[in-house]
Amino acid sequence: MNEVLSYLRENQARFLDELCEFVAIPSVSAQAQHRSDLKLASDWLVKHCRNIGLKVKRHATPGNPIVTASTRSAKSKNKPHYLVYGHYDVQPAEPFDLWDTPPFTPTVKGDSLYGRGSSDNKGQHFAHLKAIEAYLATGTELPCDVTFLLEGEEEVGSESLGAFLKAKKADFQVDGVVVSDNGMPSLKHPALTYGLRGVVAFEIHLVGPNRDLHSGIYGGAVDNPAMVLCQLLGSLRGADGQIVVPGFYDGVESLSKFERTQLGRYPESEAGLKKQLGVRALFGEKGYTAVEQRAARPTLEINGLTSGYQGEGSKTIVPSRASAKVTCRLVPNQKPKQVLKVLKQFLVKNCPKSVRLTFEAGHAGEAYMVSPDGPQAKAATRALQSAFGRTPILMREGGSIPIVTDFKEILKADTLLLGLGLPDDNVHSPNEKVSITALNKGMEMSAHLWQELAQCSS
Ligand code: BES
Ligand code: MN
Repeated sequence: MNEVLSYLRENQARFLDELCEFVAIPSVSAQAQHRSDLKLASDWLVKHCRNIGLKVKRHATPGNPIVTASTRSAKSKNKPHYLVYGHYDVQPAEPFDLWDTPPFTPTVKGDSLYGRGSSDNKGQHFAHLKAIEAYLATGTELPCDVTFLLEGEEEVGSESLGAFLKAKKADFQVDGVVVSDNGMPSLKHPALTYGLRGVVAFEIHLVGPNRDLHSGIYGGAVDNPAMVLCQLLGSLRGADGQIVVPGFYDGVESLSKFERTQLGRYPESEAGLKKQLGVRALFGEKGYTAVEQRAARPTLEINGLTSGYQGEGSKTIVPSRASAKVTCRLVPNQKPKQVLKVLKQFLVKNCPKSVRLTFEAGHAGEAYMVSPDGPQAKAATRALQSAFGRTPILMREGGSIPIVTDFKEILKADTLLLGLGLPDDNVHSPNEKVSITALNKGMEMSAHLWQELAQCSS
């Protein structure tokens, strides 16, 4: 084990160069023009995993390729078998002009590596790959078998992966799943995440007049789809932050004392959060702290609005169309289909006759919860403690990784969520970065993890 840790320390500089190569590939899954870059990123992984000494396969899908890479062989016998999941696709980098360095030109500044996908999620699954490399390169017996499952559609709903898991479930008989695609509060607070929110996405399209009209000639007599859209969206939420759609909160449980204590341990002050985000005031449902709102309460967010003239100067029109992209975050017991149904009913009912509404449902995934004190969770906590030298905290997070509920349903396996992202990583924002220290410690954590997991009865 000491050799593994020394190997990880001695090779840090090379690892960083390799990660830069990976981050330089603009594998943006939401944009069709990057389809070939997704292929390139999967090629990079295939080659990289082969060099490490893993048995690698690329699986074509209707979307982007899935890469599997395993230590398993005929000699493996009855070692515990774990799956490490990650995604090589990244969020769109727009708006480009807000980046200090170009998003796909990885740049090191101090302890940070800047680049789209450096934290979410290339850097994080790369850390696990390097831990396995260290075992294989030093000839140290790996006490578990590890299979990597790396996809290229996470940021657009993991459509191919669900079907892949169902079809190949015999190849994924595992004792558990390990995912680092989330966060920790700080380098001094490594964390085991035991809950994630779910998500549903939808779009609303409103069509009014059959073309953009002169607002002076027609304005007043013909309804304005952009205005109707604002009114409809505005009617979804009360002034106190509650979503007022009947049925939206069906099944939502109130927070237990245990939960509130755990979430209360999260080292974040509301003043600090305001400062970090540059807002003068926070917002939200009364009676919940910001941490509780972000980790354990449902929300509805407008992600994008489109209508009318967006170019330079003024243009006097009544736009013909208006549309919005919306997502909701869900908590345990909320059913994505039911939430979509009540939202659609509400919007259709409240939409005036003066415009035509279409409601288009998008991707969906339920919230995830796992016991934070089972033997595997305890093993993970010990691995975090060894690598970071601090007592880990237990937390719930507000982001979503919908495939983890498939791991539970299809593979009957629990997921250990061991995030290496920091709150200032700017995931999904301009200037995404990853902490190089977090990655290096993450590699050590992964090295310890296989020892700890092999010891715990599963
Ligand atoms: N890494 C995130 C999920 C995440 C972020 C979990 C922070 C916990 C804390 C992941 O890549 C992501 O962004 N997922 C999407 C899923 C969606 C597109 C279905 C999300 O949460 O918006
Ligand atoms: Mn993401």
